[in-house]
Amino acid sequence: DIYGDVRKNSKGVNIDIDSQWGPFKQQIDAFMTESWQGGVIVNGDTPDDREPAPIHSPYDRREQVGSVRWADEADVTRAIDSAQQAFEGWRRTPAETRAAALDKMADLMEADLALFTALCHREAGKIIQDGIDEVREAVDFCRYYADQARQNFAEPMVMPGPTGESNELYLEGRGVFACISPWNFPLAIFIGQISAALVAGNTVVAKPAEQTTLIASHAIRLFHQAGIPTDVLHLLPGVGPVIGQAIIADKRIAGVAFTGSTGTAQRIHQTLASKPGPIVPLIAETGGQNAMIVDSTALPEQVIKDVVHSAFTSAGQRCSALRVLYVQQDIADNLMTLLQGAMQELTLGDPSLHETDIGPVIDETARQKLQAHIDDMRANAELIFETPMPDDCAQGTFVAPIAFRIQHLSQLDEEHFGPVLHVITYKASELDDVIAQINDSGYGLTLGIHTRNETTARYIDERVRVGNVYINRDQIGAVVGVQPFGGQGLSGTGPKAGGPRYLYRFATERTRTINT
Ligand code: NAD
Ligand code: ALA
Repeated sequence: DIYGDVRKNSKGVNIDIDSQWGPFKQQIDAFMTESWQGGVIVNGDTPDDREPAPIHSPYDRREQVGSVRWADEADVTRAIDSAQQAFEGWRRTPAETRAAALDKMADLMEADLALFTALCHREAGKIIQDGIDEVREAVDFCRYYADQARQNFAEPMVMPGPTGESNELYLEGRGVFACISPWNFPLAIFIGQISAALVAGNTVVAKPAEQTTLIASHAIRLFHQAGIPTDVLHLLPGVGPVIGQAIIADKRIAGVAFTGSTGTAQRIHQTLASKPGPIVPLIAETGGQNAMIVDSTALPEQVIKDVVHSAFTSAGQRCSALRVLYVQQDIADNLMTLLQGAMQELTLGDPSLHETDIGPVIDETARQKLQAHIDDMRANAELIFETPMPDDCAQGTFVAPIAFRIQHLSQLDEEHFGPVLHVITYKASELDDVIAQINDSGYGLTLGIHTRNETTARYIDERVRVGNVYINRDQIGAVVGVQPFGGQGLSGTGPKAGGPRYLYRFATERTRTINT
């Protein structure tokens, strides 16, 4: 782990699965057959007045992982009532107490590393390394935001003033925050939003993605064990346009932290804007149409390693993932030959096996949507390579990594959230057009640059409007407290998750002036 020194946070979950695979697999196996129960949690309780719905694994739809009790609109009202009443007490709880609860939460998640890894595999179809990384990032978020709260929320900032007057600026919670999260980081993003909102002094109603409610349910129980009062944090799982919509439409919601697709963020923005009452801040982290630009001075083997990692890790289901690879024409043939070889080597299949590189996509709806795009590309673009799909993938929602050559980024109408790479070749004289294409997409999340020419790197870096730029490396896996993460334009509002200014947006600022 090259971030070992700076990442003081998640030491306990830095499992090296190459050397520790055997013992770790034994620990995970203990959770592989368990049947998980989850669902709505209001004031610490899951009502038993409704039928549990079965949850199936994306790897094998015949396998029932467990069952959940969905929230209904009455639960939304009960949860917000309770969170609203709890707010005054939580707002005045010392920042140190709130931060200590996050540290405790980090410890509990570290202790449950094998459990969460198994659950990420079974409910979200994640390969083991991705499951470990989920826990590591979630732990990092808790410890980082705890540190940030200690630094910024514990004591007021003393401002200048004339003799006989004291001026102080301080931060405090806004009220009931809605935290709405996606399935692709079912633990890390879910925990990141909630821990930030709580430690800043807000109470929280959390709406996880419906696909990953079991992971969310276990995490909420741990938060309560860690010392977060049950009236301060509630879980409201259910279908987004029903339960999510009911939450954000409630006039008592004081802020929304949302991570998910751009379209959903725009709908939430409209709902918040049309509500009577206070202006409600929206923190939205959304999709990307992420590019990498490779010029003729780049190191081919390094480029291919980084392209394959950026485009196909987590079956391409990362907002940061590479979607459009721009390759300078002079080296395109060589790079495409290397790309074909690297894609041939990828292993699809059972995400619980050490040798598996690519697991399933999240569900049948996602698979069909990707398939429709692939069919369109087959008709309108040139196929470069498709990784062979083994027979044992037949029971899951798999999409094989695939690469197409296209002419222009405008051929892609939206983000395609899976293992589909699009390649565009360009001449050196067309670099400005490449930059314009990327900016014209309106998205602005990640950008990769591969060149050994520093002037070229700087030229591109200064002109492409994205949130995270990665030069001569892959472009996924931002580390909390090291690479603050988030986009601009259609990709999000900021502030950056895992960065030093994130907590401020969850708080309101007050100035106190005393005539002494
Ligand atoms: P999604 O927009 O479908 O759903 C996200 C969440 O919003 C879910 O909990 C869903 O139930 C809820 N939701 C849906 N409609 C709603 C509504 N009308 N009102 C309130 N809530 C509603 O996204 P997804 O498919 O779960 O996640 C994948 C998307 O997330 C991709 O576009 C990806 O790029 C993006 N993403 C972005 C980041 C980032 O940091 N920028 C990180 C991860 C994922
Ligand atoms: N923070 C995640 C990444 O960088 C989305 O891949």
